[in-house]
Amino acid sequence: MGKGIFSLDEDIKKILVTEEEVRRAVKDTAAWINRTYEKTEGRLLLLGILKGSVVFMGDLMKHITLPVEIDFMKVSSYGSGTATSGNVNIILDLMRKDIDKINIIIVEDIVDSGVTLSYLVEYLKHKGAKSVATCTLLDKPSRRKVPFVPDHVGVEVPDEFVVGYGLDYDEYYRTLPYIGVLKEEVYQK
Ligand code: PRP
Repeated sequence: MGKGIFSLDEDIKKILVTEEEVRRAVKDTAAWINRTYEKTEGRLLLLGILKGSVVFMGDLMKHITLPVEIDFMKVSSYGSGTATSGNVNIILDLMRKDIDKINIIIVEDIVDSGVTLSYLVEYLKHKGAKSVATCTLLDKPSRRKVPFVPDHVGVEVPDEFVVGYGLDYDEYYRTLPYIGVLKEEVYQK
């Protein structure tokens, strides 16, 4: 990238969700899962969508008190202005023969246009999952291109360029322990 060694923090305009607020959102999400699935029959699977969800997933799973499995899928969504729920490419699929016995909770870092999750929910239901629900750390409802409402949202955020806690710009900034807004000059170069 030609930038050499640089400090990630210096590229942050402001902190939108502090470490403490992230911790609270993680615990809220875990409490929702523990409550919702307490009496549910079948197996429970936390399904993280790579790569953005890994930090949230890692923290979230430690607060789940029910027996739970983890797995991951990787997808890429194409198109910009005209993206529809058909423009999602599966790069790493969920391979399970017993999917009809599994209650899936998709774990996302952010819902933006809604294209990825609306597609994945239908895809996993079509594959025969016992149930499919969604939770996301961040939600940007003002950016929807398709109607989609997550089952659980950690924090609703405005339409700003957010990075940190798994979210990247050009693959960097995922390692920041908070959610920050990137300075315009970083991505307008
Ligand atoms: C982000 C995020 C979601 C998706 C949400 O992933 O993690 O998967 O975009 O956007 P949508 O609601 O508009 O579909 P991204 O494609 O940036 O990949 P990454 O997680 O590997 O960074």
